[in-house]
Amino acid sequence: MALSPQFAAIKISQVGIIGGSCQLTLRKFPTTRRPAISRTSPICTSTSKPSAGPRLISCRASLRPCYFLPVVSYSAFTTSLCRHDGPNKESQPPRWRPPSEESLNERPVLVVGAGNIGRRVALVWASIGRPVTIYDISPDALHSATLYITDNLAAYCTERGTHPGHVRTTTDLRTATGTSGHPERDSAGNITPNEHTKAPWQAIECLPESLPLKTSVLALLERSLPSDCILASNSSSLTTAEMAAEGPLGHPHRLLNTHYLIPPRNRMVELMSSGATSGAVLPFLAAQMRRVGFTPVVVPRDIQSRGFVFNRIWAATKRETLAVLSEGVAKPADVDALFRDFFHAEKGPCERMDEVGLDTVASVEQHDLERQPGLGASAGSEAALRWLRENYVAAGKLGEKSGDGLFTGEERDALREKHHWEKYKDVEETSGA
Ligand SMILES: NC(=O)c1ccc[n+]([C@@H]2O[C@H](COP(=O)([O-])OP(=O)(O)OC[C@H]3O[C@@H](n4cnc5c(N)ncnc54)[C@H](O)[C@@H]3O)[C@@H](O)[C@H]2O)c1
Repeated sequence: MALSPQFAAIKISQVGIIGGSCQLTLRKFPTTRRPAISRTSPICTSTSKPSAGPRLISCRASLRPCYFLPVVSYSAFTTSLCRHDGPNKESQPPRWRPPSEESLNERPVLVVGAGNIGRRVALVWASIGRPVTIYDISPDALHSATLYITDNLAAYCTERGTHPGHVRTTTDLRTATGTSGHPERDSAGNITPNEHTKAPWQAIECLPESLPLKTSVLALLERSLPSDCILASNSSSLTTAEMAAEGPLGHPHRLLNTHYLIPPRNRMVELMSSGATSGAVLPFLAAQMRRVGFTPVVVPRDIQSRGFVFNRIWAATKRETLAVLSEGVAKPADVDALFRDFFHAEKGPCERMDEVGLDTVASVEQHDLERQPGLGASAGSEAALRWLRENYVAAGKLGEKSGDGLFTGEERDALREKHHWEKYKDVEETSGA
């Protein structure tokens, strides 16, 4: 099939790296097999400025049947990304078949993003002897994740009486996806699973909270992983239905949200369909999660819920707490004392918001207000957000990470001591009164 230069440009823009300084070189291959990189020469090069986002590039040469190998330099790191063909939305989604049980001891779980949550998710999946690969563009993030896993995996396994699985880290996407050779593809361009016994069976993106970034990386993974590999997003607020609607994803039948609530301390994980997730994916993955020690909560497959279950309720709690504080109805200590008493909780919403970071709380709230404009008017949320920004974020009072927040550093220390003693307090209860 002949490709017009315009079509090629659109396809390459989907590969584009979002933000940062990035150079993209498009190489053309005259045959239907991908030759070695050294035998090719660039036909066009485009450099985008920081935060320029994906961009279209024009090409001098005519783009007849060929493969495209964009070579993307992102900051100091270079990743080669092999494209076979763009997603074909008209073709029938292949039926998803679960990988065999035996293969799960050989095929790794791929965690994409080694940050705060990615390394924790990796730790739990490795804790029952399952192999795990962690991919990140930042060697520093991988180094720090390795230290975290080295420090914690053995202790975690000892506590559970399990053996640790092999964890490896890489900055090379083709190593991460196990597709450095020439994978066999079916007529729709999907990699056939049989050829990839060592390729991941599940990829979990733990990338920063950016819709275009997550979507473009998931689209790359979709094309690089065998067709039985589940694609999961750990986003706290973006649904995979939104990601599927963005464009570059071809077949969202193996895509879903898996929202981990900060493991390994917490074992709950919420599962929600992309709206097109194959019926077999949710029960299969939920069963695997139980085996690892997670407790999955599955949103019915035909329902889409912004914020899934917990974050939807937590968002409303945060919003109303900020409104109460900004209107002077109560102080943070009073709000938290009420919550601790009623729920028998260790911490109240103000202490939790200090823990998360008030700058993060403000950006999530801003994001929610933009997506659901009705919220601002009904709950005075815009005024509460302004109050939070002016009195805390602008003043550098961000909570635990900066010292002071809704509670001062000293108040938080006193609360920590109180929680410690409360854990050992004997609660006497009678069955009658
Ligand atoms: N922090 C929480 O409490 C929490 C809880 C549950 C879910 N989440 C979700 O988890 C996701 C990750 O959050 P986090 O706090 O771990 O973020 P983070 O910033 O700590 O980590 C993100 C990692 O992604 C890497 N990265 C960036 N671009 C990349 C790319 N193109 N390819 C590969 N790696 C790339 C970064 O180097 C970084 O190591 C977010 O979607 C968030 O909503 C967060």
